[in-house]
Amino acid sequence: MVGPSSQEFGTKPAKRMGLPLLAVTTTEFPAGEIKYKFDEKLDGLEVLLVQPTYPPADRHYMQLFLASHLLSQEGARVHAVIPYLGYARQGKAFLPGEIVSLGIVAHLLRSVGVTRVSTVDMHSAEGLALFSMPIYSVSAIPGLAQHIKTYVKLDDPIVVAPDAGSAKRTQAFAALYGTKSIQFKKSRDRVTGRIKMEAPPKLDPKGRDYVVVDDVISTGGTIAASTELLKKGGARKVVAACVHAVLLGETYDKLIKSGVDEIIGTNTVPSRVSRVDATEPMAAYLRTIIAEK
Ligand code: R5P
Repeated sequence: MVGPSSQEFGTKPAKRMGLPLLAVTTTEFPAGEIKYKFDEKLDGLEVLLVQPTYPPADRHYMQLFLASHLLSQEGARVHAVIPYLGYARQGKAFLPGEIVSLGIVAHLLRSVGVTRVSTVDMHSAEGLALFSMPIYSVSAIPGLAQHIKTYVKLDDPIVVAPDAGSAKRTQAFAALYGTKSIQFKKSRDRVTGRIKMEAPPKLDPKGRDYVVVDDVISTGGTIAASTELLKKGGARKVVAACVHAVLLGETYDKLIKSGVDEIIGTNTVPSRVSRVDATEPMAAYLRTIIAEK
């Protein structure tokens, strides 16, 4: 079933795998509340419910919860495919007394009948442990590396991890691209959200090309701060690559102003920079599960 937040991400893998789309009537009331109605028998069906939960995350989760509950109530087994998993960045308490939002999401998904979750480039491996059902994160990093190598003109670029959390992803990107990677040091004030970015002490970016790789670009603060450091040091070209291009509000313009020459993301979140198709690795993974049965 293709959820309301994902026409492209739902229909493409279904076509790739030759799976039928579940017919559903979705009605939205004037207050924005929705209801679903299925006209076919669901009993015994295994349903892939595709619904990314990018902003507005709460609305997209509610749409997912309602669909999953109805499907499971009617006798279907629900495997939720959530390419962008909202709240994944709050997979732990950063300050004493803070909620671990992702744990609540995991709990709610289970309570509405979800029996398995698949996602793309989950923010942290730590978050996976909060789910008491099978959960798997496929990676769109190979697709991003391949796309940039093929279509973006860069001269022997260096790949940058803007923070420690991005290091593994960035090393994988660099290995696939066939180049080296470096890591910046990011510290975030957990109260104001303000970030401080530091480059390795001996870095001389003069005349070089860089690809800054992150899992998500949200307000753009992380990528803008990395780019400003590189461009101030004389970098020739900076490309920003991310899996989830959330790009809130004026973020695209902010990044261009900071000196980013090109931004490339995938289609886990529909955006103006979604050039890489993350349904490919997802369909490949789903095929392996279906083949197991
Ligand atoms: C943080 O740990 C993430 O990997 C991203 O670096 C961060 O969430 C990006 O957010 P923003 O674009 O608002 O800096």
